[in-house]
Amino acid sequence: MQTDAIEQVYFSPAGTTKAVVDEISKAFFGQKNEFNLMWDPLDEETVIPSNTLAIVAMPVFSGRIPDLCAQKLANLKGENTPAIAVVTYGNREYEDALLELKTILERNGFVLLGAGAVVTQHSIFPQVGTDRPDPQDRRALTTFARQCSQKLRAYPEKPLPAIEVKGNFPYREYKVPAMKPTVNDNCTLCGICASVCPVGAIPPDNPKTKDTDLCITCTACIAVCPEKAQGFHSPEYAEYGAVFAEKNSARKEPEFFM
Ligand SMILES: Cc1cc2nc3c(=O)[nH]c(=O)nc-3n(C[C@H](O)[C@H](O)[C@H](O)COP(=O)(O)O)c2cc1C
Repeated sequence: MQTDAIEQVYFSPAGTTKAVVDEISKAFFGQKNEFNLMWDPLDEETVIPSNTLAIVAMPVFSGRIPDLCAQKLANLKGENTPAIAVVTYGNREYEDALLELKTILERNGFVLLGAGAVVTQHSIFPQVGTDRPDPQDRRALTTFARQCSQKLRAYPEKPLPAIEVKGNFPYREYKVPAMKPTVNDNCTLCGICASVCPVGAIPPDNPKTKDTDLCITCTACIAVCPEKAQGFHSPEYAEYGAVFAEKNSARKEPEFFM
């Protein structure tokens, strides 16, 4: 089939997941729409019709998909709508995240053309997976997207085979890191961080503070700060980062499931 539109459904606090979605989207024609899960509340049931391709992507947080995304995706329904499911991760592990995303989508009426776990720069420890997706990753994404496109052309006459992905039931426990970004003296109170925070943890009138109970450590505030004021400034972060980098620096390649 030829789809009329592409629905990009994504959560991308630090921007690499969006880069992956854009790379995959290049293989498909049609009007591009989006549900940006950073800010779109998706608090009502929303149906993506079967003549649309859904590209659904989000980062791995502690081996799961972000809880906020799981809640929003509960309202996203398909009608045998073809979809591509992707999780991005920072070269450590993706554990149960892809299985979780696939399971939600299939339960909600989507049929998968393909699924992928793609390595990107680690948003908490950017010294791991630095500058990924890189040209090699982008070529792999193009090949994957073209394979999905071929399957889509033959669908629904040729039914889509079931896709097996890595991961385990029950899923590992979802944990929000205790470590939260803080601001240093560079802060000019511009408030851009408050405007992008997906959980409203930063008061716009006092962006030097943060509601640490609300903050999910997604790093959107760090990614967007024009003064590099938002960040992890503690000595523990530097210490842990060195150990983390040492353990997780060996290059991993993206994995695709068709
Ligand atoms: C709270 C949090 C938890 C994370 N947990 C993992 C993880 O379990 N495994 C991993 O390899 N990367 C992990 N990462 C790294 C992100 O999955 C990775 O950097 C992702 O591509 C970020 O996407 P974005 O650039 O669209 O925000 C984590 C990042 C954050 C912020």
